Amino acid sequence: EDIKEIVKYAQDRHITIVPEIDVPGHSMAAIAAYPWLSCTKDPNTKVNPGTKFSEWYGNGKFKMLLDNTLNPSDEKVYEFLDKVFGELATLFPGQYIHMGGDECYHGYWEKDPGCQALMKKEKLKNTEELQSYFVKRVGKIIEKKGKKMIGWDEIMDGGLAPNAAVMSWRSIEKGVEAAKQKHPAVMTPTKHCYIDYMQGDVATEIRIYSTLRLKASYDWDPVPAGVDSTYILGGQGNLWTEQVPTPRHAEYMTWPRGWALAEVYWSPKAKKNWDDFAKRTEQHFSRADVAEVNYATTVFDPVIKLQKNGSGKIVADLSTEITGLDIHYTTDNTFPDRFSAKYTAPVELPDGTDMLRIVTYRNGKPMGKLITLKADDLEKRAKK
Ligand code: ACM
Repeated sequence: EDIKEIVKYAQDRHITIVPEIDVPGHSMAAIAAYPWLSCTKDPNTKVNPGTKFSEWYGNGKFKMLLDNTLNPSDEKVYEFLDKVFGELATLFPGQYIHMGGDECYHGYWEKDPGCQALMKKEKLKNTEELQSYFVKRVGKIIEKKGKKMIGWDEIMDGGLAPNAAVMSWRSIEKGVEAAKQKHPAVMTPTKHCYIDYMQGDVATEIRIYSTLRLKASYDWDPVPAGVDSTYILGGQGNLWTEQVPTPRHAEYMTWPRGWALAEVYWSPKAKKNWDDFAKRTEQHFSRADVAEVNYATTVFDPVIKLQKNGSGKIVADLSTEITGLDIHYTTDNTFPDRFSAKYTAPVELPDGTDMLRIVTYRNGKPMGKLITLKADDLEKRAKK
């Protein structure tokens, strides 16, 4: 009944919801309820936020410490998915069903005799091909329910299922590749579309593992030169909410980057103009104030880069995303205002700098948040 209400609410606003049930990875909730869905069948599997369940190695590779993966060699898994996707198909009127397919760890499959036997029987050379076998079977289930399948770009690894659409998240190139293979693609690359990332300096934002500034969400082309645009269905912004506990914070993360993405997807390329967009963003802020909608003002904050020079001193390279802001700073543990040193070129911080404080002004008015970096932060950030 909840879903019906959401679908109706969306329909009234001319919005089609594309539901996603993420398989065969990211399936901890299903496995906690039905441990037999996985290879390891651990009856103690729990969805337990805060547990360390994975290790990431920084190159996109990772290990799952807990098995959150469905078993592709068990027919009962496909019976289960037939029911799940069948129910989903009756609830959601749109053409597409998203089956996930991303970040699937293969370590438990590699050790599983059932998976090994299936790979031998089906002549699958590696676990990418095993995943591709699984995805193709899910594709058949979804098509049988009268829907089209879409999945994250990992579904291209090991061979793309017939008729599948691809949601390109790891890069723009994955979507281009899908279009070259004459499959529809939705562009949502992390570098431009992940609005769960921080939008300003980590010193003032809630810490997330990566940053996506407003300008980066505006400055890109979802239909790059050379790609057949008929295969690019559109684009998406992704607000994963594991660290977004309230609707008000969801608004903070969504705006203004959502406005930037709307313009990227819906305005003619020739009309795009960052300076003009930045001005209109400020007008939108006033509208959001009236509507009591939350938004981030990080576009007024300084962009801070710290490095060590040849003599081992820390050098601060400061800039702003929008034009027309003055940057003022102090290194003497006082609050900067428009009478403090004005930044014009990279500054070498004096020996013994205990605090670097930075603020932006426009026409005599403070604009961005005051950013304070302590000596140990300066040192750590300059080393990176
Ligand atoms: C994703 O962010 N794992 C699609």
